[in-house]
Amino acid sequence: MVRIEAPAWGRGARVGRAASISDLRLIARRHTPRAAFDYVDGAAEGELSHARSRAAFARVEFRPRVLRDVSDADTTTTLLGRPSTMPLVLAPTGFTRMMHHEGEYAVAAAAAAAGVPYTLSTMGTVPPEQLTAVGDRWFQLYLWKDRGATKDLVARAAASGYRALMLTVDTPVSGARLRDVRNGLTIPPNLTLRTLAGMARHPSWWFNLLTTPPLRFASLDSTDGALASMVDRVFDPRITVADLEWLRESWPGPLIVKGILGAADARLVVDAGADAVVVSNHGGRQLDRAATPLESLPAVAEAVGGRAEVYVDGGVLDGADVIAAVGLGARACLVGRAYLYGLMAGGQAGVTRALDILHGDMRRTLALLGARTIDQLDAASVRLRP
Ligand code: FNR
Repeated sequence: MVRIEAPAWGRGARVGRAASISDLRLIARRHTPRAAFDYVDGAAEGELSHARSRAAFARVEFRPRVLRDVSDADTTTTLLGRPSTMPLVLAPTGFTRMMHHEGEYAVAAAAAAAGVPYTLSTMGTVPPEQLTAVGDRWFQLYLWKDRGATKDLVARAAASGYRALMLTVDTPVSGARLRDVRNGLTIPPNLTLRTLAGMARHPSWWFNLLTTPPLRFASLDSTDGALASMVDRVFDPRITVADLEWLRESWPGPLIVKGILGAADARLVVDAGADAVVVSNHGGRQLDRAATPLESLPAVAEAVGGRAEVYVDGGVLDGADVIAAVGLGARACLVGRAYLYGLMAGGQAGVTRALDILHGDMRRTLALLGARTIDQLDAASVRLRP
């Protein structure tokens, strides 16, 4: 007998049925005010860095092997000495409660349940002390002009149990995110005529924003003003490798440097004591037309030569992207937008759906490649087409 299932309606059901991160993105776009969606979806200037990072994954060519038992494809690995269910880390993203009122709480809880690390941003909207989800929590640091305040923040992260510190080094000044400028994005969102019009289209987003604790940068004192000018008051364009050495002395745990695109800088930061580097162009949100992370990865991996772990991010939208990056020398990928689309689409359930999709993709790709474990991936399994 044919069993006809009752149709499931509503946004929750659509999130549950999403088959790809792109599906989640479409749901997110429908349910989030434009300025918040564009803050995530957009990149700097002509958005070429971002488009090229994504396009680089189209150059991937897999070299499958057959007649191997892949009945139990296994994505587990270790990241900085701790097990992770997959070679994936949730990247630091600022202002997460603007995307959805559950914000960092939802992302950290979904990451902990999925068994992958989550990185809280210096520009987060939840204080480090309040993110008590169990799981592997990392803290991302911007070095502010005020080194005393930076030191205090690092001490707070250490006291709150964050295991690893990730210093982002590709932001001496903030990038020109033109969509944000055009949308008049301010922190916190202003009640202008335009935002009032936006409220009518997204009443539940606004209701949640206005009935939960005020949106603010939980680690910074100043919360007013346009995002770019606020960021420029905080970021320090004078930071050098001496600051990294200073940080190395004050942070006993694993230290990660994010925003490396070449062999020389990779060697420099590993010599200064970094335990891991993230090959990244900040999701295309800083220097436009910067080299793509995936294409920069093999040279960085070779330069580091096993002295530190090498991660990569920028444009990862499915699990096959992650498997390709691992084959090209990465220990793991970071994802930003992939989980934020899930968050905007459906809060914690949306992030969980995004992680399920990525995990399913990885297992399927491993099996189709004829690999049973992550360790079996290497230069013979994948190459970049010329
Ligand atoms: C970011 N990124 C980022 N990086 C960082 O070190 N500190 C931060 O506060 C932020 N904030 C931030 C906000 C938003 C909305 C996005 C999309 C990204 C960059 C992030 O950590 C990561 O490098 C990129 O997101 C990777 O590219 P994909 O996965 O988004 O394509």
